[in-house]
Amino acid sequence: MTAGERREPGRRVAVVTGAARGIGLAIGTRLASDGFAVALWDRDAGALEDAAQALRASGATVLAVPVDITDRAGVNQALAQATQALGAPAALVNNAAILGRSGPTIDASVDEWKRVFDVNVFGALHCAQAVVPAMVRQGYGRVVNVASIAGKEGNPFAGAYAASKAALISMTKSLGKEMAETGVLVNCITPSAADTDIFGVHDESQRAQLQARLLERVPMKRFVRVEEVAEMVAWLCSARCSFSTGAAFDISGGRAMY
Ligand SMILES: NC(=O)c1ccc[n+]([C@@H]2O[C@H](COP(=O)([O-])OP(=O)(O)OC[C@H]3O[C@@H](n4cnc5c(N)ncnc54)[C@H](O)[C@@H]3O)[C@@H](O)[C@H]2O)c1
Repeated sequence: MTAGERREPGRRVAVVTGAARGIGLAIGTRLASDGFAVALWDRDAGALEDAAQALRASGATVLAVPVDITDRAGVNQALAQATQALGAPAALVNNAAILGRSGPTIDASVDEWKRVFDVNVFGALHCAQAVVPAMVRQGYGRVVNVASIAGKEGNPFAGAYAASKAALISMTKSLGKEMAETGVLVNCITPSAADTDIFGVHDESQRAQLQARLLERVPMKRFVRVEEVAEMVAWLCSARCSFSTGAAFDISGGRAMY
């Protein structure tokens, strides 16, 4: 049996970051229904606890861990808490991210780019660096980074976000190759727009304009549903995914050109 084909360890534990709402919550919900014990990580403690309670009510084994992934020591503590309560993670979904301010790249401040990179790139790196060593020791693991079509195409007026997602795609490729013989597979997904809170609060006409602009570039002319994203992530988090690593999986309604 080759490294990628190894079976999962006894209890399946998953860590999902940015899991209080949106795509992260859909992923946590899906992994729980697939039988994972799920540690939900988010910096929004209130929304996180509400999400965890709703999932527990449906019979899932869920631990809510409030953590800001930009804080490396906090990430280590969150992992210790999750491992003690549930066991060592077999899956890590790096989903937490921010969009940052929208505007012309030429006028953007370096501090704003750093703020976006702190969450979207260094936060994901903190989580991978904390979680992956134990996966290597157990000879099995699945890491899924939630990137974006923006990381391939460079969305206008979202320079920091697009560049951060390009960095995450590249980090996936480097780590995937480094881990290839360990039993730990590392992949990313590149969704097009989903109708979530990431776009912030807009009045109805602003929201309609923004949504129309986003959907113009999607041949299937609709938002991806968060459950559709979770479906792809569920496969990437499972032992059924055995010969893909360092790869970017498209889920963009036909938008991606490569
Ligand atoms: N919504 C889209 O159109 C879209 C498209 C492509 C990719 N994505 C990606 O999907 C992922 C989820 O996006 P979403 O739309 O569900 O966003 P969202 O804003 O609805 O949820 C993101 C969650 O991450 C949490 N978070 C943010 N910074 C954090 C930090 N420093 N530490 C811990 N938690 C933090 C937030 O509190 C929030 O609960 C992101 O990586 C995003 O870039 C989204």
